[in-house]
Amino acid sequence: MKVVVCVGSNCTMMGADSIIASLENLKDTLLQKEGANPAFTLEIEMARCLGECKKKNAVSPVVIVDGEMYRNASREQIMSVVLDAAYEYILPK
Ligand code: FES
Repeated sequence: MKVVVCVGSNCTMMGADSIIASLENLKDTLLQKEGANPAFTLEIEMARCLGECKKKNAVSPVVIVDGEMYRNASREQIMSVVLDAAYEYILPK
């Protein structure tokens, strides 16, 4: 899974850093747990302004998860999307 977090100034002011911190925390804890399926990977990428904030107001922070763009993203929303995908791999069936 690839998550691109915009770290342009607008998105940073609106909380992109807390989204990155939570994603990195998840990567360092849950995904390193014994029994975690190595088939699930989490790539976190930071991007300079993705241009969305130039088109419209109040869209920051902007995050792209596996190609799907989330505008005005919250930490909770992004973590929910990532965890839903991760649990498909991590939880025993
Ligand atoms: S700063 Fe994030 S879209 Fe412009």
